[in-house]
Amino acid sequence: MSTSCDMLVFGGTGDLALHKLIPALYHLHRDKRLNDGVRILALARQELDRDAYLALAERHCRAQVAQADFQPETWLDFAQRLDYFTLDATQRGEFVRLAHHLGQQDGRIRVYYLATAPRLFRDIASHLESAGLAGQASRIVLEKPIGHSLDSALEINEAIGEVFAESRIYRIDHYLGKETVQNLMALRFANALFEPIWRAGHIEHVQISVSETLGVENRGGYYDHAGAMRDMLQNHLLQLLCLVAMEAPVRFDAKSVRGEKVKVLEALKPITGMDVMDKTVRGQYTAGRIGGHDVPAYYFEKNVDNDSDTETFVAVQAGVDNWRWAGVPFYLRTGKRLAKKSSEIVVTFKPVPHMLFQNGQVNRLVIRLQPEESISLQLMAKAPGKGMQLEPVELDLNLAQAFRQTRRWEAYERLLLDVIEGDSTLFMRRDEVEAAWRWVDPILKGWQEHYRKPRPYPAGSDGPEQAHQLLERKGFRWWQ
Ligand code: BG6
Repeated sequence: MSTSCDMLVFGGTGDLALHKLIPALYHLHRDKRLNDGVRILALARQELDRDAYLALAERHCRAQVAQADFQPETWLDFAQRLDYFTLDATQRGEFVRLAHHLGQQDGRIRVYYLATAPRLFRDIASHLESAGLAGQASRIVLEKPIGHSLDSALEINEAIGEVFAESRIYRIDHYLGKETVQNLMALRFANALFEPIWRAGHIEHVQISVSETLGVENRGGYYDHAGAMRDMLQNHLLQLLCLVAMEAPVRFDAKSVRGEKVKVLEALKPITGMDVMDKTVRGQYTAGRIGGHDVPAYYFEKNVDNDSDTETFVAVQAGVDNWRWAGVPFYLRTGKRLAKKSSEIVVTFKPVPHMLFQNGQVNRLVIRLQPEESISLQLMAKAPGKGMQLEPVELDLNLAQAFRQTRRWEAYERLLLDVIEGDSTLFMRRDEVEAAWRWVDPILKGWQEHYRKPRPYPAGSDGPEQAHQLLERKGFRWWQ
């Protein structure tokens, strides 16, 4: 059961709040994980009264949570925690009104969740401070992407840091809240089996793929200025890479875990100059079919420029320049409107030094984050019968079945509880975000300097052909 707090959600009528945060809080309430003293105040510019907001939130919550999970009487109970406040976050004066509305804090924890565009972060932090709302018991949660480039991330971090101490800033990357992502740490650091072979001498290459069937939905305005590199790779995929590549932390706490992740980011081999063209692929979806339905090309999506050259797909060949990983390629790819939704980390081991049998293949460890959470190890076994015919077989661990889960925790549930509890282990520290941008920035600049239109790929496919060539050059293939 959590501690009491006021949770203020800026951007309360936006997609993130309505699709993710409110449903996550509803689940926490339903599962009795929220203290009775947790109050939620959604804030946005729209003039709405409380009842209208509750109706809006209920409609979205019903649509988001599984039918069996939504109980009208539980919603009514949950809704008693929920309130709405109209506020234009760019206006300093409005925060004085907010302070009156909230009343005395008296040491009570206040969490400010900025589910808004990053350009509002600075204003909100400074207005909170001038209205006397940024006291010691307050915490701020920032949604990714933090900035648009290294410079803008530095500016945001600087401005927020003037108001909130680093220990009170929670930079969220919801991938870190996913069960299997945390399981990756358990797999690596709680099992003696993998550690001795988790290194360049035994691992041939690593693939990290996050594919989505969704397009940009209602977020064309934001996405068209961000693209797949800023929206996904700079944060989610690099975080996954960190968890695969990091050294064992001394302890499972915020300082040690984040310290090890930063070391990985700092060891990423810079991709600059012509390497940008050789080691990265940008793609953009054209019209196609997904799940039996026709879908339009990216440039026909709502709020997207008709001649947009924003990438909706990106693939990168990265490398970690340190003792453990020297020479091991890490292939990262992510894209929208691909054939299926799935997130996977595939670790491919080197072949045995001397193969006695025909058709032997290498071992692979496949860590699947979604749609189902599983870990499987591909081994070679002898097929029954005469001779020594080998076939790949899988040691399969379905995590949901192993733990007989009735419902999988959504990433935001875990992370919201962590913020309330003051545990920042699964949040990004300032230097982590900046190190990630430091590596991404030269790639973005390279794309501008050696301009090339994104490679088209039909919606419903598995991305542009060039992404396959990136691996084929080394004799590898994307794992399907
Ligand atoms: C968000 C991105 O951070 O992650 C979205 O902004 C993307 O564009 C989403 O769709 C994917 O998250 P998940 O949990 O569905 O893989």
